[in-house]
Amino acid sequence: MSKLELIATAAMGLESLVAKEVRDLGYECQVENGRITYKGDELAIARSNLWLRTADRVKIKAGEFKAYTFDELFEKTKSIPWEQFLPENAEFPVSGKSQKSKLFSVSDCQSIVKKAIVERLRKAYKKTSWLEENGPLFKIEVSLLKDVATLTIDTSGSGLHKRGYRVDQGEAPLKETLAAALVMLTNWTPERPFADLFCGSGTIPIEAALIGQNIAPGFNREFVSESWDWMPDTVWEQARNEAEDMAKYDQPLDITGSDIDHRLVKIAAENAFEAGLGDLVNFKQMRVQDFAVKKDYGVIVSNPPYGERLGEKNAVEQMYKEMGKVLGALDTWSVYIMTSNEQFEQFYGRPATKKRKLFNGFIRTDFYQYWGKRPPRRSE
Ligand SMILES: C[S@@+](CC[C@H](N)C(=O)[O-])C[C@H]1O[C@@H](n2cnc3c(N)ncnc32)[C@H](O)[C@@H]1O
Repeated sequence: MSKLELIATAAMGLESLVAKEVRDLGYECQVENGRITYKGDELAIARSNLWLRTADRVKIKAGEFKAYTFDELFEKTKSIPWEQFLPENAEFPVSGKSQKSKLFSVSDCQSIVKKAIVERLRKAYKKTSWLEENGPLFKIEVSLLKDVATLTIDTSGSGLHKRGYRVDQGEAPLKETLAAALVMLTNWTPERPFADLFCGSGTIPIEAALIGQNIAPGFNREFVSESWDWMPDTVWEQARNEAEDMAKYDQPLDITGSDIDHRLVKIAAENAFEAGLGDLVNFKQMRVQDFAVKKDYGVIVSNPPYGERLGEKNAVEQMYKEMGKVLGALDTWSVYIMTSNEQFEQFYGRPATKKRKLFNGFIRTDFYQYWGKRPPRRSE
């Protein structure tokens, strides 16, 4: 297939990171709210799914048009050459959403799009009977925004945060895509020590290790578009071989995850093992208050409890104070903390060098950044 229009969807606030990742893969792109659009072929689909660490999904934009009436939605959907993507037996559920549009009934929009595609495919495949829909899956979405309908086909299957390594988790695990984003927003390089002092099930240290060794985050899973007949196996093979060649398994790393809860430490180690990282990440049971280190120029990235639950706030704020005392003394270390507590800097005892607004699901948080001294330049 010649060039397709692709969309990498992004959580609110992560668009610029996703765009950078798409550009790093070699594709020029445009950035909009929640989505990055670019042109690419089958290999671009495979590469994007395998490599994008911070995107939610990769979709094909099948069509985009203005639609003020159901008739318009039907006719314009029918004029899209769906048979180029969907085989005769394709299973194609249609989901939808609508914002600031005349066509606001999502269920009506979904069934109209479904009917239009059925009609198009029956004509294209000269079918007089029903379509059986017992073949490969093509999840279609109709999304209306300000009367513009965008029709997409999902190429990922499960969201890209499902890396395939999470065997178990704690109470409030971070989405893998957000954990990768946190690491990518820091000044960490693989030569420097890295620590997450509230590691829970290990998401941040595991994502850091994958980044540190340049391992494709999707290497451990499958994608729905692998079952499509127009996506040749050779494309996936090529993308996976490329990923294998680009991985730096010899890159030494000094990554630690610690948590007060020993059960979570065990889960974190199991998840890291499942991610193929073996003993590359050190996990141990420890309270943040007991953190002590002899090394210099390390980076801490953590997602501590926010204290939002009834009765927890005071204890969490006290813990932030103690954390500030311990970490504030490490002048060569950079510390990055994500929390929704708006008074964090007061408790921690210092104003952040920089703050960045981020959403952890629906919770608005700040990523408080305390930059340490720069490491000395290595002599040539
Ligand atoms: C929001 S969770 C972190 C989730 C983790 N990022 C993940 O992906 O699973 C916060 C963690 O902080 C830990 N914790 C709470 N108080 C602590 C303390 N004083 N020292 C170290 N860890 C603590 C909890 O056990 C919990 O696992």
